[in-house]
Amino acid sequence: MHNEVPLFSVPKGMYLLSHSVGCLPMQTSSVVAKSYFTPWQQKGGDAWPEWLSIIEQFCHELGMIFNANEADFCPQLSISSALSQYLQSLGQQPNKSKRTVLMHATAFPSLGFAVQGLEKYGFTLKLIDKDIAPNDLDAWQVHMTDDVAVAVITHVHSNSGELSKIVEISKLCRAKKVRVVVDIAQSAGIIPIDLQDWQADVVVGSCVKWLCGGPGAGFIWINPAHVDELWPKNIGWFSHENPFEFDIEHFAYAKGAKRFWGGTPSILPYASAVVGIQQIRKIGVSNIYAHSKKLQSIVLNSTATYLTNTIKLEESGGTLCLALNNNLLDRLANELTQSNVYFDRRENSIRLSWHIYNTEQEARKVANIFHCL
Ligand SMILES: Cc1ncc(COP(=O)(O)O)c(C=O)c1O
Repeated sequence: MHNEVPLFSVPKGMYLLSHSVGCLPMQTSSVVAKSYFTPWQQKGGDAWPEWLSIIEQFCHELGMIFNANEADFCPQLSISSALSQYLQSLGQQPNKSKRTVLMHATAFPSLGFAVQGLEKYGFTLKLIDKDIAPNDLDAWQVHMTDDVAVAVITHVHSNSGELSKIVEISKLCRAKKVRVVVDIAQSAGIIPIDLQDWQADVVVGSCVKWLCGGPGAGFIWINPAHVDELWPKNIGWFSHENPFEFDIEHFAYAKGAKRFWGGTPSILPYASAVVGIQQIRKIGVSNIYAHSKKLQSIVLNSTATYLTNTIKLEESGGTLCLALNNNLLDRLANELTQSNVYFDRRENSIRLSWHIYNTEQEARKVANIFHCL
């Protein structure tokens, strides 16, 4: 990355917060000005065809990066909202006695809240205890009682960086006729994902983190084999098979995932997200992954002895979640702050994320900060 034209606007200091917000690609503002603001400026309401083509482009980019069909994606407000929409779309099937949603207690809380918000519709949240490893297949098996309708699997956990064994857990789910939802918030853009390998029922994600697309561009992917059995509740004219029919007495669900769309769609976050995904695809997710792992290993090689957790780089995402005893944690946080490092803390660990715009020099600097503690 050195001596080259920078591809991203990286805040001054050392930016290690890509698990929260990925950096802005250099071209985003000019591309968005052209694709979103100029048509608005020049054509007002006649900008819609161009604006809607942004959504088409967005779904196309998702299809390309995750090896899936663009028709199977639909924009969503957020990941939790997408999960809520999906659960509500199940209608009468599964039946009333099969409405439990299973996830590990270290899933992102917002997904658990989404299920709790549907308690009055008969859904119940069931958690695998946080002291059980998220990849403990026996635990998933034991927890998949007959009442479990849906299992939510976090591809990469935000507070540990741990990668889930999607294929193995999904296989258990399929054997028990439990639907699988995978949350790719912390893996999209950093871990190569091939949706054909997973054959999940649903995948939910957003573009704000490793895809460098900014907040607001959530999405859902629905397995085309089951989409016609889903009846979303939160619908609007863009969920209709023909949005421009304008007959209030006739509603027919759109074919495929777009039935999850709703009313007049939001465009601006997707205009920005398209640029992020294009930039990430151009660099290549496997190149980003390899670069991130190289930097992570520099840090880990010289810090592992200080840690109270064990990190296996091949079983984690782009974030090093370094657990330390409290005294060391405070000193490290202090030193990192003094050195202008962007990072955050969760429970007893410090989260440091390594993207393509981070450098070996930065990784060595973090390793040195440890040595000076
Ligand atoms: C694993 C994971 N899932 C989901 C989210 C966010 O979900 P939502 O888009 O509903 O805010 C995050 C945010 O940090 C996350 O780390």
